[in-house]
Amino acid sequence: MKILVTGGAGYIGSHTIVELIQAGYDVLAIDNFDNSYPYVLDNLAKITGRTIAFEKVDIRDKSALKSYFQLHKDIDAVIHFAANKAVGESVAKPLKYYENNVGGTVNLLEAMQEANIDQIVFSSSCTVYGEANPPVNENAPIPIAQSPYGNTKQICEEILHDQTIATDLKVVALRYFNPVGAHESALIGELPIGIPNNLVPFITQTAIGKREILTVFGNDYPTPDGTCIRDYIHVVDLALAHVAAIDFLTQKKYTDSFSVFNLGTGRGNSVLEVIQTFEAVCGVKLNYQIGPRRAGDVVQVYAACEKAANELGWKTKKTLEECMLSAWKWEKAIASNTLN
Ligand code: NAD
Ligand code: WQD
Repeated sequence: MKILVTGGAGYIGSHTIVELIQAGYDVLAIDNFDNSYPYVLDNLAKITGRTIAFEKVDIRDKSALKSYFQLHKDIDAVIHFAANKAVGESVAKPLKYYENNVGGTVNLLEAMQEANIDQIVFSSSCTVYGEANPPVNENAPIPIAQSPYGNTKQICEEILHDQTIATDLKVVALRYFNPVGAHESALIGELPIGIPNNLVPFITQTAIGKREILTVFGNDYPTPDGTCIRDYIHVVDLALAHVAAIDFLTQKKYTDSFSVFNLGTGRGNSVLEVIQTFEAVCGVKLNYQIGPRRAGDVVQVYAACEKAANELGWKTKKTLEECMLSAWKWEKAIASNTLN
């Protein structure tokens, strides 16, 4: 079976390529390196012992996508990661997000339809739930999106759903909670460009000395320690869920042509718990302060994971401790400058 991975040089895409190859799938990848680097492909080859069949393609370029599919006629399914993902940036530059995330997905679906490829796994997000009552299951209402980024995920889910009604397309939409950590080899991981938006890269960059101090955004929330609660999922567990989703599609285990799954651990951890876990397992004292709340943060969200367990046969295996240790190992590998 041959799987095309869009955004294959990115954080989650690169980890998924490793697990797909290790599960015996043939993998093709495309990316435009908007938020990633070509050396990731060399490091994927080091991990897997395979050269990655890669082409630089921008999914905003419809004709380039169509030509790509004409050259690669034997693709069985697509995993679609390519998108922009910075929530704050999406508020400042909404059109960039609608063009890339929504327009790019429409282009991809058109090219797939023309090439008679009718199976896709889509990267969605827990952000579609907004402020919900955890544990959140897949039937929770989808409120009006709080950011253009979140809206692109809602719109893409709807477009994909509509396309399953109009055509033979089969879709698995995966709603990720908070992906963290890195591959045990420390050859691939998350590469935030500029100041990180997310908690874990900010922790590791502060610990290594790239940032002076971590600010905890508010400790007056209605939670046990006053800080926000999230469901932090190890990226390798997340990658394995994509292999399960591809098995689910290609082995026709679905009952509906549009299936949606939460991908989380089912466990909620506060910001302070994450910091304390990092300090304990990595043996580093973190310089942090309590600051004001960040606009747009929900108080607490974590996944109900039963649907993925029952239908995909997948659940997470890694602990928060393993998440922190692997993120720290990755940060040290970046600092040692041995990655490329
Ligand atoms: P990432 O930025 O590391 O990876 C995305 C990749 O897509 C990058 O390599 C980028 O260069 C590429 N890309 C972007 N626009 C492209 C285009 N027009 N053409 C070709 N390639 C393009 O992000 P990630 O964390 O790996 O996220 C992957 C997917 O998962 C995204 O759709 C994101 O919205 C979604 N997601 C991420 C998170 C998270 O916290 N990381 C959470 C929920 C959902
Ligand atoms: C986690 C917690 C912050 C940084 C984001 C997107 C979401 C999804 C996952 C893509 C929050 C706190 C953070 C810092 C802090 N991505 N924090 N100091 O906001 O839950 O989710 O990534 O789909 O759409 O919004 O993740 O890592 O930014 O924050 O105190 O410097 O850490 O307030 O409680 P978030 P995050």
